[in-house]
Parts: sequence; structure tokens; C-alpha cells
Amino acid sequence: MAKYEKTVADDTATLTIRGESYELPIYGGSVGPDVLDIRALYGNTGMFTFDPGFTSTASCESAITYIDGGKGELLYRGYPIEQLAEKSDFLEVAYLLLNGELPNKEQDAKFKHDITYHTMVHEQLNRFFGGFRRDAHPMAIMCGVVGAMSAFYHDSTDISDPEQRRVASTRLIAKIPTIAAMTYKYSIGQPFVYPRNDLSYAENFLYMTFGVPESEEYKVSKTLADAMDKIFILHADHEQNASTSTVRLAGSSGANPFACIAAGIASLWGPAHGGANEACLNMLSEIGSVDRIPEYIAKAKDKSDPFRLMGFGHRVYKNFDPRAKVLQQAAHDVLAELGVNDPLLDVAQELEKIALEDPYFVEKKLYPNVDFYSGIILKAMGFPTSMFTVLFALARTVGWISQWGEMIVDPTQKIGRPRQLFIGEGARDYTDIENR
Ligand code: SDX
Repeated sequence: MAKYEKTVADDTATLTIRGESYELPIYGGSVGPDVLDIRALYGNTGMFTFDPGFTSTASCESAITYIDGGKGELLYRGYPIEQLAEKSDFLEVAYLLLNGELPNKEQDAKFKHDITYHTMVHEQLNRFFGGFRRDAHPMAIMCGVVGAMSAFYHDSTDISDPEQRRVASTRLIAKIPTIAAMTYKYSIGQPFVYPRNDLSYAENFLYMTFGVPESEEYKVSKTLADAMDKIFILHADHEQNASTSTVRLAGSSGANPFACIAAGIASLWGPAHGGANEACLNMLSEIGSVDRIPEYIAKAKDKSDPFRLMGFGHRVYKNFDPRAKVLQQAAHDVLAELGVNDPLLDVAQELEKIALEDPYFVEKKLYPNVDFYSGIILKAMGFPTSMFTVLFALARTVGWISQWGEMIVDPTQKIGRPRQLFIGEGARDYTDIENR
């Protein structure tokens, strides 16, 4: 795990509350907004800050991923996502996120060997699948089976032991594609396909997903493997998003990493978060044709209508999500390579064009995000929409486990325990039922 450097207070802010003044330290990071240290606020003032949704709250110090929402910039350990998507591969990016630096040739080879030789899951883990209905949502199965890993790998659940943390991290990164592929196979009633050690991470995942044993040899397409690897890179980490914050909060209690990642999967499933890729493709299918776009733009703008343009908007990006730009190009390339002519790509592009010219979206700085184009590529690659968020979770496991590892060694971290603004009844006496 990366070495952790403490940030020193640069200056202070003075807060005056009802005539009393309080000095609050201000810390500056390496890039990005400074922070106001409010840890002593409650002790000094008897007051809490109030920030539902944490729109103005930094929950931790981190050196892993930096986002400049105004510029539409995303850096993994300082490297722009565009460069990594073009020049790197997913396991090299995983090493970078976990360790803070790009691997040299020996480190890269060893890391890839370690991951490759941990891809098989315990044979008894297979039995969990039989308890699910065949039509269970794959994310429901992922939550259950990944959480169940805690019951199989007891020798890597002592979070105080750096070696056990490393083994657990390796197991999760290595086995999550196997479990994801098994989830798909189970949903279509096909036998599970065991991982192979002669394939790359993305190739192995495609092989386990689309290969059918004892029938004909599945040849992994380089185009699809390259596209899959790039999609994994783009989804690997994203600062303190909802699911990453869930993993950190779960981990702050000392829960084992398998349970923490299962919690992250559950949070990612929501349509406002990682579930948006599935929701976006369903939305594009519902719109169906370019001529129906104005009707849906109007719905998205109508405050009385809960409909939102899925794949649009972001808590942090108030400019283009750089991942959406890479995915837009990848969508073109993959569909052209596969000879797929998907009218939904035309609908998506026209929708993007219209929305970006509409004052409502311009004023609210709503741009396409990572989920807007990913579904189109995944559909062309042969995945059902119900698997889209599973693929997001597969890739984000690297980010989640990197952030979890950073939290464990952070000396300032303690169990996460927010407070509240209480708006309920004050103390009152019990009344017998006869008197109610
Ligand atoms: C991911 O955090 C991350 O980093 C997440 C992620 C990652 O990699 O981990 O990037 C992955 O989750 C991407 C986002 C995927 N979700 C969607 O595409 C769902 C659609 N988007 C919205 O639900 C929304 O934009 C959010 C949830 C993404 C962000 O919501 P915020 O920051 O809480 O913004 P908001 O809801 O306060 O919206 C601000 C305004 C509101 O209008 P007003 O109340 O100010 O009048 O913009 C409007 C919203 O109604 N708005 C939209 C909209 N998104 C926001 N209106 C129409 N369509 C939309 N998509």
C-alpha cells in the first residue's frame, strides 16, 4: 500500500457563533480545494455541521484519485485517465491504484502472475448460486456471493496484518471476474467456465462469460478484450463516491474486506450511481427513436416528473465526464469493428446534442457521465443490461480495495459515526393503551 503523508495546517479561519470566536485550522492538499478542520467544533461549540449528501464535506485524506469537476479532469495517482485508457492495461492500473506508482517490468509480471493464479474460487462457493432463482438480478447474486467469500478465506480477514490485507486484496481482484462470469452463466442456465492461466484479465473474463465448455473452443476477440480492458480502466476508481464511501465506512468498524466490498456492491447497484448504465440503456430503448427525444427532455425538466435523464449529471463533474468522452469514441470503434449498427447510438448522440444545447442542462451543468455510453458498448459486446452494473462492480473492486487499504493505514481514521439534526419528539412519558 502507498506510504501515507500527513497534511500540515497552512492557516486558520475564524468562526464567530453568537459572539464567541473559534479558530479552525485550514489544510491544503497537493491539488484541489483546501479544507476546514471542524473536528474540534462540537467539543468547542456544542454544534454540529449540517451537510446531508456530503456536498461540502471531505471525509478523509487520500492520494489515490483526483477529480477536477470544473475542468472535467480525472487523475489516477496523478496520471490522466485518457492516457491510462490509451496506453495502460487494467492490471497495471490496478497496481498503480494499490501501490501509488506504475510497476516496472518485474513488478508488473509478478502482480499479473499473482492475480492470474488466484482467479479460481473455492469449489463450494458454487453452491451459493443454486439458492438464487435463475431470474435473480445479477447484482443481488454478487452481493450475496462476494459477502460469502468471508466464510471461505478466513486466513486473510485479519485487517491488522499487512500480509493478510495484501492476500485479501489479491483474492478479491482476482476472483471478482470469475464470480461475475458465474453470475451470468447461472442466469442463462449454462455451466460455469473455469478460469485459464494463459489469458489476460479481460480475455479470461470474456472466456468465462461467453465460452461454453465441451462444445466449441471460444476464441477471445482482441477487439472485445481491448474494449473490455479499457472499460475496466475507466471504471476502476473515482474518489469518494457513494459506494467507495460505503466501503470506507464499513471498513472503519474493522469489518473484513470481503464484507466491505459486498457493501460497496450493494451501494453501487442504485440507479443514481452504478445502476445508471443499465437504467440509461433502458431509457434509450424506451425513447426508441430520435423523434421522441423532445418528449423525454421535457420530462427530465419537469419538476413534477421524477424522470431524470439517466447517464446525465454528476455530483462532481460540472463539465464533461472525461470517461464519457473516451467511451463515446470507444462506442464508435467497437460497433464499427463488430459491424453493429445500433440505432440507440444515434439516439444517444442526438440526445446528447439536444441536451447540451438546452438551457436547463446548460444552467445546471448537466453533461453525459460515465454511464451514458458504456451500456451501448456492453450491449454490442453481447452483455444483457442486467449485467452492466456487475461489470462496473468488477472494475470498481480495484478502487474500493485501494481506498479501503488507504483507510486502514490512515492514522487519523476512526470508526465513522456521523451525528444528526434531531427533528423528532423530545422526551415524553409512556401512556397506557387505554389512554391513547
Ligand atoms: C456515477 O460520485 C461518483 O463519482 C459516481 C460515479 C463513479 O464513478 O463512482 O461517477 C458513477 O454514479 C455516475 C452518475 C450516474 N447517475 C446517473 O446518471 C443518474 C442521473 N443523474 C442524476 O441522478 C444526478 O445527476 C446525480 C445523482 C448523478 C447527481 O445528483 P446531485 O449531484 O445530487 O445533483 P442534484 O440531484 O442535486 O441535481 C442538481 C439539479 C437538480 O435540479 P434542481 O433541484 O436544482 O432544480 O440538476 C437536476 C436536479 O433535478 N438534475 C437532473 C439530472 N441530474 C440532476 N435533471 C434531469 N436529469 C438528470 N440526469
